[in-house]
Amino acid sequence: MAKITAAITGIAGYVPEYALTNAELETMVDTTDEWITTRTGIKERRILKGEGLGPSDMAVPAIKDLLEKTGTHAEEVDMIIFASVTPDLIFPATANITADKAGLKNAFGYDLNAACSGFLYALTTGSKFVESGTHKKVIVCGFDKMSSIINYQDRTTCIIFGDGGGAVMLEPSEEGLGIQDTILKSDGAGRVHLHQKAGGSCKPASHETVDAREHFIYQEGQPVFKAAVSNMADVSKKIMERNNLTADDVAYLVPHQANLRIIEATRRAMGVSPEKVMINIERYGNTTNGTIPLCLWEWEKQLKKGDNIILAAFGGGFTWGSVYLKWAYNS
Ligand code: UT7
Repeated sequence: MAKITAAITGIAGYVPEYALTNAELETMVDTTDEWITTRTGIKERRILKGEGLGPSDMAVPAIKDLLEKTGTHAEEVDMIIFASVTPDLIFPATANITADKAGLKNAFGYDLNAACSGFLYALTTGSKFVESGTHKKVIVCGFDKMSSIINYQDRTTCIIFGDGGGAVMLEPSEEGLGIQDTILKSDGAGRVHLHQKAGGSCKPASHETVDAREHFIYQEGQPVFKAAVSNMADVSKKIMERNNLTADDVAYLVPHQANLRIIEATRRAMGVSPEKVMINIERYGNTTNGTIPLCLWEWEKQLKKGDNIILAAFGGGFTWGSVYLKWAYNS
């Protein structure tokens, strides 16, 4: 019997309507469009407005679209993994909330937190359930409402992050398409450079933590930048080498969208040409778990069955990794 692989059979994304531009940020903190553009490549990012909304509210319309595109009934989905650092609630899992709202009555699910690498971790985890034959329709979500943990008085972080994300359907392939190989890494020593100080069990919310603005992202940009450049390039090169892929064999690099300079360093290390790199950071900024599915969603029509695609990410933890997949369909 042919080995079962896990293929992406559909992708759908969602970004909120409101665009927070560099011009608006200039009125909020001491920054300039020029600084943001040259240091990060970002021009605007989307913000989810409205009381009581979270990542599940972005995921549900995307999942409805995904079910329609793949001709799937909601009850057929047997698993959902939700990658996010900004879950609707601390518990229960946003996967459970989303499954309820989207009518995925037969799906078990859980959340996965690996910061900006979460989508790659979730894709890998989901693929194992499909490859083993136990699950046949697995939805992998990567969504974040980063605006909920951003201090809009801190110019070093508020210019970077935005809200949005996407969801993919994973199904068995007997043609050998889909996920071919993955490299996933983590190093908890990196936590000192990128974290949220309060709101966890070590430091629950209190008047003091709110006053000290400890429920927002804390990031030391330079050390994170250095680690991102070397590690994302390293795993992307390694996954090509161990699968005997040359730059010509690679149809697309799909990098996490944290900083245009990190993307460029990864591209150069792999030796692929610029037109093969998916980049939409200028419109969405860093949506954390959302960046990679948002790229795949926007490029879907250009992708061809059999295309070799390398996904790569680096984020808080530290976590990083790369996934090599063969695209499974023509749109
Ligand atoms: O996705 C999760 C993983 N995160 C990342 O991959 C992010 C990695 N880090 C980065 O992308 C970059 O480090 C940043 C975009 C966050 C910052 O860029 P940088 O080139 O590393 O700048 P810097 O932190 O070294 O700051 C340079 C200068 C400083 O001023 P002085 O000390 O030289 O006078 C900052 O205060 O730029 C200043 N600065 C700003 N100026 C205008 C920092 N933020 C801003 C700003 N506008 N928004």
